[in-house]
Amino acid sequence: MKRKVITALLAATMVASLAVGCGNKGGDSKSDSSKSSSSDEITIGFSQVGAESDWRTANSESMKSTFSEKNGYKLIFDDAQQKQENQITAIRNFIQQDVDYIVLAPVTETGWDTVLKEAKDADIPVIIVDRMIDVSDDSLYTAWVGSNFKMEGQKACEWLKAYADAKGMKDVNIAHIQGTIGASAQIGRTEGLEAAAKEYGWNIVAQQTGEFTQAKGQEVMESMLKQHDNINVVYCENDNEAFGAIDAIEAAGKTVGPDGDILVMSFDTTNAGLTDTLSGKIICDTECNPLHGPRVEEIIKKLEDGKDVDKKAYVEEEMFAYDDTVKSVKVDDKDYAVTKITQEIIDKRAY
Ligand code: AHR
Repeated sequence: MKRKVITALLAATMVASLAVGCGNKGGDSKSDSSKSSSSDEITIGFSQVGAESDWRTANSESMKSTFSEKNGYKLIFDDAQQKQENQITAIRNFIQQDVDYIVLAPVTETGWDTVLKEAKDADIPVIIVDRMIDVSDDSLYTAWVGSNFKMEGQKACEWLKAYADAKGMKDVNIAHIQGTIGASAQIGRTEGLEAAAKEYGWNIVAQQTGEFTQAKGQEVMESMLKQHDNINVVYCENDNEAFGAIDAIEAAGKTVGPDGDILVMSFDTTNAGLTDTLSGKIICDTECNPLHGPRVEEIIKKLEDGKDVDKKAYVEEEMFAYDDTVKSVKVDDKDYAVTKITQEIIDKRAY
């Protein structure tokens, strides 16, 4: 049964919907009173991308521990196994179950308009987390919280530029292992690299998706190494791809690290990723923070209290490198610190 959820924002959304003529259809929509129940429990349907990476596992754990029964929630967790069609089915199930909120971690940016219109017609607020969506009508979601993926890519590339200059690297020949094509994390990190390669005259010798997994990262790296013998940088779009790439490079008889044949760059800064940064196997790791549970909860609490929420909120993120050759990077006139990794930092890492 649904609890009483009539927030100011939901009411405002309904008014806005009616104003643009795309609100609930006549008598088939639920009335406000149908959202009432005596229970104080908040029911949340969470459609998770899958379990492709250590980052994703930490993200799922953050959501599950935040939206626990002890904290007053009923969480319906759905693992979509990296398939958008599974996410669309899950959202339709959540609508049928008349949840209080739908939380969506979308696999890719496009393809959400129809199902989110169905959620809107059912008066269920939708909160997007982690990756972004690209919809024609932004009233189809209430709020988004996640990372600035393009900024992550830009920061990583400014680090590479400064590092390559400091080390006198003549040519920068990059193997680019992309994330899931069409995911914001792939789009933003790829945009950052492609723009920097153009500006700084770097050579992207190969570019292929590793689907954010270790197995695919390894497979793609093996094939790139067979086709190109001049690779001296691998730009992996997450830690798990980097682990696979490192295995492939070492199996091919090459070395990684500051004094090796190939520099491996990565994103996420998971515990295991930072451990590889400490040894230099990953030369620079740019943070993508997965601990979104409390951030989504803050949005829901504000909605429950009838308060306004930010439509979009970016998470602050750090950078870690093997050494202190580069102490900071500048993007859009703002300086970002680069921290030399230590065991103490890794020990404090929650994921
Ligand atoms: O959308 C965030 C990305 O998705 C993380 O970088 C990656 O590890 C995850 O699979």
